[in-house]
Amino acid sequence: MGPKPSLRLVRQGIEIVVLALTVASFSGCSPHPNTASPAVQQQTAANATPWWKHALIYEIYPRSFQDTNGDGVGDINGIIQRLDYLQGMGVNAIWLTPIYPSPLADFGYDISNYEAIDPLYGSMADFDRLVADAKSHHIRVIMDMVLNHTSDQSPWFIESRSSRNNPKRDWYIWRNGKGPGIPPNNWQSDFGHSAWTYDATTKQWYYHKFYAAQPDLNWHNPEVQKAMFDACRFWLDRGVAGFRLDAIPELFEDPTFQDEKILPGKNAFGDPNEDQSRTENLPEVHEVMRQLRKLVDSYPGDRVLIGETYLSNIQEQLMWYGKNNDELQLPMDMQVGFINKLDVDQFRTRINEAETGLNGNMPLFVFDNHDNERSWDRYGDGKHNAAIARIVATLLLTTRATAMTYYGQEIGMVTTPPKTRAEVQDPVGKIGWPKDKGRDGERTPMQWDTSKNAGFSTAVKTWLPIPPSYKTVNIQVESGQPDSLLNWYKQLIALHKNNPAIHDGQNIMVDASDPNVLSYLRKNPGVGPSVLVAMNFTSKPHTVAYALQTQGIQGSTATALLEDDGMSKTVDLNHVMLPPFAVFIGAVQ
Ligand code: NOJ
Repeated sequence: MGPKPSLRLVRQGIEIVVLALTVASFSGCSPHPNTASPAVQQQTAANATPWWKHALIYEIYPRSFQDTNGDGVGDINGIIQRLDYLQGMGVNAIWLTPIYPSPLADFGYDISNYEAIDPLYGSMADFDRLVADAKSHHIRVIMDMVLNHTSDQSPWFIESRSSRNNPKRDWYIWRNGKGPGIPPNNWQSDFGHSAWTYDATTKQWYYHKFYAAQPDLNWHNPEVQKAMFDACRFWLDRGVAGFRLDAIPELFEDPTFQDEKILPGKNAFGDPNEDQSRTENLPEVHEVMRQLRKLVDSYPGDRVLIGETYLSNIQEQLMWYGKNNDELQLPMDMQVGFINKLDVDQFRTRINEAETGLNGNMPLFVFDNHDNERSWDRYGDGKHNAAIARIVATLLLTTRATAMTYYGQEIGMVTTPPKTRAEVQDPVGKIGWPKDKGRDGERTPMQWDTSKNAGFSTAVKTWLPIPPSYKTVNIQVESGQPDSLLNWYKQLIALHKNNPAIHDGQNIMVDASDPNVLSYLRKNPGVGPSVLVAMNFTSKPHTVAYALQTQGIQGSTATALLEDDGMSKTVDLNHVMLPPFAVFIGAVQ
């Protein structure tokens, strides 16, 4: 189960491009197979589009990507080894979940030193080589930055907890309890139960939005702000392309420390359901975002800030770009990817909102990450999962949004949760077992080939078991199958990069009251034909008649740009028959 109540609900139910213009802003890059078509180059060069717009960003969970030293845990050299694969797929940037020194209470999201590499993953020299080699593969590297909290083993926290008078006492959030054994207020941790832990040495409680081993920093303290901005500078100086900001809406807490309001029902941990308005999305966070944006903008090469922003509506989403577009360039939009059922109406509404409700800013769509069951399981019906995975890929790669994917999504890796409590690695699973088996299931090693340990590692035992599906679901096997999910992704990525309408055209919903088929037009921005995307979200065939004249489409046929089972190459727009869960992507003019 995920780390936040919102994630819980969700569960239940790549840098470096390389458009011509990206090349320009990414010194040292030369044209390569992923370079955009001349039409897209022409169009984008005119607007000086920053590389991250329309990019494909690929999340790597380093522990699970590729092990090169045989200890059963992935490492930096493993990522370097797989750069050819990532480049071949068309990845523009990789986001690495944390590889800083950490006691691993939350597998790296508990950092004990922000300016070093954990030896488990390699050395600083390995990291520098990764950035350089990635660059020669036209891939940028984005670091995860955990600003909200540190490890309880951080020297800062060790000092802070040592006495009430320690100069670092105020770097964290300490409060007196309401009485013996009673925490300061009713605030709850996203990992279950009270967000306060009592410390016997100084007889006060410290606040942690997440695990007790992840004490929250006090962002009202200017020294904390300086230390964290210094950490960001350290990595920007080493050439990272930007940051994915962990748990960023949680940065500030209400300074009155009053109880949260209790809403009806219970949360996923069986605790009272709190409204969280005193611990999430406090207005102060926006000033920090503006300062951080100034910092990244002071570096060349269009460095980017991506936010881990689970928000409930488009108005909240818009706020994260900043009133003057001076905060995050890419707050993640989790409202589309985590609908968690193929509901045409919801997808239509939310994609449309992202198109029209963000002041022209770029949405960032995400369907998968290391905190949620894989989309294969969240969207699959158990019978048509392979076809549904193609729909998910299409939704990710054919709207105007920047696309973020997660290793293994391209081959259809499935969630493989631990079978027994003893096998669980994730603290969330340890707390939540058996109701909540934690997040190990979506973090299993990448399935590269049919060899031992799926080509991930030569170890006798890998840190998480290799899912049995690896014999058929792997990069090697799927590369050789023209109709595999992997090849579907590759074709979509090529369209996303090279087709001007899909790359940057307007996104207009058509046939907009159809409850079974989601259809949109990616409207030609002036170069080449427009593109009709249609997806049958049901297990029954459906026929659609499109009236596209009002959109300036005079032709009566569409020509498929990539072929899905059972669909013909050319279709009559008055009679488009979509078999169950079929996808049609075709040029219209
Ligand atoms: C969000 C991260 O994605 C998750 O893995 C982590 O447990 C929490 N933030 C706490 O850092």
